[in-house]
Amino acid sequence: MAQAMKIAIVDDEQDMRQSISQWLALSGFDTETFPSAEDALKSVGTDYPGVVVSDIRMPGMDGMQFLKKLMSLDSALPVIMITGHGDVPMAVEAMRVGAYDFLEKPFNPDRMTELAKKATAARRMTLDARALRRELGDGTTIMKKLIGASPVMERLREDILDIGQADGHVLIDGETGTGKTLVAHALHAVGAKAGRKFVVVRLAGQDEDGLGIKMFGPMEEGGAQPLVEQARGGTLVLEDIESLPMALQARLLAWINDQGTPPETRVVAVCNMQEAGNVCEDALRPDLFYRLAQMKITLPPLRSRGEDILMLFTRFADQFAEEYGCAAPTVTAQEAAQLLQAPWAGNIRQLINIAERAVLQSRRGSGTISSLLMNDHEDVQPQTMTTEGKPLKEYVEAFERMLIDNTMRRHKGSIVGVMEELCLPRRTLNEKMAKYGLQRSDYL
Ligand SMILES: Nc1ncnc2c1ncn2[C@@H]1O[C@H](COP(=O)(O)OP(=O)(O)O)[C@@H](O)[C@H]1O
Ligand SMILES: [Mg+2]
Repeated sequence: MAQAMKIAIVDDEQDMRQSISQWLALSGFDTETFPSAEDALKSVGTDYPGVVVSDIRMPGMDGMQFLKKLMSLDSALPVIMITGHGDVPMAVEAMRVGAYDFLEKPFNPDRMTELAKKATAARRMTLDARALRRELGDGTTIMKKLIGASPVMERLREDILDIGQADGHVLIDGETGTGKTLVAHALHAVGAKAGRKFVVVRLAGQDEDGLGIKMFGPMEEGGAQPLVEQARGGTLVLEDIESLPMALQARLLAWINDQGTPPETRVVAVCNMQEAGNVCEDALRPDLFYRLAQMKITLPPLRSRGEDILMLFTRFADQFAEEYGCAAPTVTAQEAAQLLQAPWAGNIRQLINIAERAVLQSRRGSGTISSLLMNDHEDVQPQTMTTEGKPLKEYVEAFERMLIDNTMRRHKGSIVGVMEELCLPRRTLNEKMAKYGLQRSDYL
């Protein structure tokens, strides 16, 4: 499940450290500062739940040595290097060694925030992927991650169990952040191939020739086995299938056709094209599309899952509050309405991010959920927010549940307090709590 994200700031100059830290904290990040690389290495390393911002010129271990050390511990850790003005060769060298990006002094605060957002999002994806990988053998744990009581979610859970047991190829599509990668893992974990090989290939942004060799061979002298071989007997996940060049589509089809039925290796193709109004079908040759889409799972955008939004927000906010050791933010009625109406272009991934920043804000005692939503949706005018296709009943129920939940928390489980505040007779309150699965003992 989503992990809290930190930003480690490493600089020998105290002023610099503090101003970076303050700026990032104001933008809603959880920062920690270190006066030297040696100090930072006591906390930052493999699986560090966050990203690093480091100065290059420091006494003792300098930024380049620090970067190399970090890359040897965890090559996927995003490290943003701060370089002196005009230090181009240094910046180039840092990128070559594996830095995520660099910032030139004096740095532009907005660029810093942008980079921090992108880097923490990338980090979260890496850690999510690692966590999923560790749980691959355990279908129940993965299924439990799929939160949501909406009919589409119930249906999705059933589909995963059914399709997981079947042995044809699967196509998953849906907007970004809707859970496609999570579902790909779940399909494997609950299926007949659980415990067998599970190989993920990212197809976007790869050079065609290199990708062809990586996927299908021929095996290079002393090189790694082709991915289709590595996945033999298990599941081969092809992320961003829409980016697969035509020539490789032909090779993939030939390989799939060679496998016979039922296929020895299951292909789970993940298509990311829905947001642009495009469909996967247009990007793939038809014969390949039909082979891959023997079974198809389309993940719904968050905005169409009205009643799940508040539940997801509350769950993630609670979880982050626990990780950060503070109280979960209370959501006002107005904020709940805004959460329900936001366009959620980044779907659940974006909601997780907002829940985390809301918790950090409330820990500092400043900021509102509204301002976070506004910040995230600056290009969106309120009138373009739509409630299209969502029954009023869903909203009202989600809202009612959230309100009772919030009030119970504030009154620490005192039924009388909640009855008074919400002007509800005891019996109605009890009935509603039972309906929404809320238990008094959870609030005491
Ligand atoms: N139904 C769900 N309930 C709770 N968390 C979810 C759900 N679906 C996805 N997530 C979480 O949302 C984030 C984005 O999901 P991911 O599978 O990476 O999306 P995609 O691959 O479609 O971009 C991940 O942290 C994932 O664990
Ligand atoms: Mg994904």
